[in-house]
Amino acid sequence: MATQYDIVVIGGGPAGYAAAIYAAKKGSKVALIEKDRLGGTCLNRGCIPTKTYCASAELLMKMRESKTFAINDNGIKPEIDFDTLFERKESVVKKQVEGIRQLIKGNKIDLLEGDALIEDNAKVLVNSNGSSSIVEYKNLLIATGSEPSSLRGIDIDHRVLLNSTDILQLKKLPASLLIIGGGVIGVEFAMIMSAFGVKVYLVEILKRIISTEDAMASRIVSNRLKNLGVDINVDTRIEDLKSLDDGLRVELSNKKSFVVEKALVAAGRIPILSASDVIKREILTERGFVKVNSHLQTNIANIYAAGDVIGGMMLAHKAHYDGEIAISNMLGEKREVDYSAVPAVIYTQPEVASVGLSEEKAKEMGIDIKVGRFFVASNGMAMARNATEGFVKVVSDKASGKIVGGTIVCESASEMITTITIAIREGLKFEDIEDIIWPHPTISESIGEAMRDIKGMAIHKVGI
Ligand code: NAI
Repeated sequence: MATQYDIVVIGGGPAGYAAAIYAAKKGSKVALIEKDRLGGTCLNRGCIPTKTYCASAELLMKMRESKTFAINDNGIKPEIDFDTLFERKESVVKKQVEGIRQLIKGNKIDLLEGDALIEDNAKVLVNSNGSSSIVEYKNLLIATGSEPSSLRGIDIDHRVLLNSTDILQLKKLPASLLIIGGGVIGVEFAMIMSAFGVKVYLVEILKRIISTEDAMASRIVSNRLKNLGVDINVDTRIEDLKSLDDGLRVELSNKKSFVVEKALVAAGRIPILSASDVIKREILTERGFVKVNSHLQTNIANIYAAGDVIGGMMLAHKAHYDGEIAISNMLGEKREVDYSAVPAVIYTQPEVASVGLSEEKAKEMGIDIKVGRFFVASNGMAMARNATEGFVKVVSDKASGKIVGGTIVCESASEMITTITIAIREGLKFEDIEDIIWPHPTISESIGEAMRDIKGMAIHKVGI
């Protein structure tokens, strides 16, 4: 007889495993089906392995500034030991995967390792090592995630032409790398690889890199990459890629031509819908993503979806949030998603963190806004750390004074953005934040200054 569950979750990434744990903590009988390793893209092929590389790249870049910090390097040039770093990355990932496995076990969730196939609105077939079993559910969560998309006319062979999953499996650094796409993945790898000494060429079809971020953020990251030796080509397309014995000959629409050892395609991600033919037959999709309402419910009442598979911001923390909302609704709590304050971070140096509406987006939407800006070059802590590149920008609604968005570009922007996230989420006005007593000296004092700048009252800024 098939085992019966209150909730079955397909996919053990940030949406799925968080949802399964949340449901179990609320007292539901839960099964989690995963065909690969727990943790999904973020843990195995995305956030965590790349951030492990970022940590080494950052330290390497800092060590190269040692003279500024009055440290004599005695002529020794720091360089990356990539063999050891690869092992470190594998070990960080393995520990995290094991941690999730323990959480699943500790919360008495049945982990079914296999390939899920939705049979109908009550049953899922799980195929594992040639055998199959049926599990029955009252409610189902599809959290099958996304995978790197390919580009028309460009054949990813996973050997020379790579996607973001492949590049994390490289055991040896290439001498040179072409990166196609100047979005989040493209710029993070451009910084990591160039810091490690790889000659990087970046090609972006739009007029600027990280085009969804504030224009000033894009300029700062672009300048930093250029200083690291990255050859940035914006408003440019690939004309031709020719396979050679030892790499690729690249021809660009701006007439540049060069040879690289490897190429990375970083031009977006697409949802994984393989869990079911049912999805294609009966569950509605929209532009390839599973279609859900504001309760994350599909057109089939007891089937919900969460994370990258429903589109929107493809971020681990948004996926986690989705997972909990979907479970709450399965349990009758009637929660709606609110994506007005989802922070996003690009882990370059300086980091770029943003939340809510950018100045450009607010203007495009016809919202009457007032903007406050503060450049971290005037911040004492930033100066002490030799990290003066960057700014804090806050966007407020002119009529109400409520904060609707913000961008932070600086060394620890990822840790600072939560202040603005809370302000948006809680409907705070800029006056509510400017009065906060900020610890001194910190780079986060710049947030208070940007808030005060909305009415021309920033203390460490000349003029109004
Ligand atoms: P993306 O959508 O951020 O950027 C893709 C870029 O490729 C765009 O700028 C686009 O204009 C460009 N492009 C598209 N076709 C092109 C062509 N033929 N030639 C040249 N350029 C072309 O996608 P990306 O970087 O692949 O990231 C995928 C997802 O993963 C994103 O949604 C991102 O949010 C997420 N992610 C998040 C990270 C984080 O939170 N730090 C890190 C890495 C990925």
